[in-house]
Amino acid sequence: MAAVDDLADTARSLVAPGKGILAADESGGTIERRFAAVDVESTEESRLAYRELLLTAEGAGRWISGVILFDETIRQRAADGTPIPEVLARQGIIPGIKVDKGAKPLALSTGELVTEGLDGLRERLTEYRELGARFAKWRAVITIGADIPGEYCIWVNAHALARFAALAQEAGLVPIVEPEVLMDGGHSIARSYAVTSRVQNAVFTELRDQRVVFEHMLLKPNMVLSGYDCPNQANIDEVATATLRCLRHNVPAAVPGIVFLSGGQSDELATAHLNAMNRLGHQPWQLSFSFGRALQASALRAWRGRSNNVAEAQSEYLHRAQLNGAARSGAYTPELEQVKRDGSLGAEATC
Ligand code: 13P
Repeated sequence: MAAVDDLADTARSLVAPGKGILAADESGGTIERRFAAVDVESTEESRLAYRELLLTAEGAGRWISGVILFDETIRQRAADGTPIPEVLARQGIIPGIKVDKGAKPLALSTGELVTEGLDGLRERLTEYRELGARFAKWRAVITIGADIPGEYCIWVNAHALARFAALAQEAGLVPIVEPEVLMDGGHSIARSYAVTSRVQNAVFTELRDQRVVFEHMLLKPNMVLSGYDCPNQANIDEVATATLRCLRHNVPAAVPGIVFLSGGQSDELATAHLNAMNRLGHQPWQLSFSFGRALQASALRAWRGRSNNVAEAQSEYLHRAQLNGAARSGAYTPELEQVKRDGSLGAEATC
């Protein structure tokens, strides 16, 4: 087991000022859907080519502190033979790993999910640490509908998240605890708030009961938004205020950082929401990002499976990383979206 200080250091490094996490841990089905949208067939080779372009993008370490990998990727090597975790370490980026086995239908419930993957997890965590991972992620999925989520769904997912987190800490890996309340549907921001708050409350009850050390973990929550089909969409400041209020009511100050998922928001909106939260003054925790789609969408569209598009795709990815890095200090403005992708946002936007 790693020294306790290592876990605290890793957690703090992952939320270092100006930096955040890239989630590149799409499961087989998800990456297939993302590739299909840009007419690319998902094969072991195409997945490696795409992920390698993200992971080797030079200079990403200025804004990216860690990358969450999928099981297949952490075992692969770059074209020059370097193991992928080493490719990241050379850029000063911490390798992480998704360890859950996905959300499956919850027994004796309709429309609700529970995340699987606890069987054999202790052994898998040990192996991942040997492969170079220093943090691990588990995602629970909560759906908002007419009569859901119920307490049953909330508590079984919270329990599993805490079992994962305890095992990860025991294995010397910082757990990223991800209870994602989906924003699909016509619900109001008030309903998003109520469900997200209930879920976070249950998750921290389980984490405490299962002896998880708050200083040695990160929370990866959804932002509190209006449902995507809600006719009355909350504005950026309303989202920032509701999301922070929810966190302040539920997340102990001992947790070093909050790393938001993007959850299907546009790239610009995810960045603007993070930025608005960081402009609301000092909080007990660092407010950062662990985006998948909101860091990758423009890069994937630029790549389209062609090796001669790699440089353009890397430049798109670095641009989004830089803008989200700026949002860490509240220095993002929509005008920066137009700034030439040459790495020159100006000193105050990047520090
Ligand atoms: P999104 O930012 O696309 O929601 O992905 C983050 C993630 O890791 C989901 O588990």
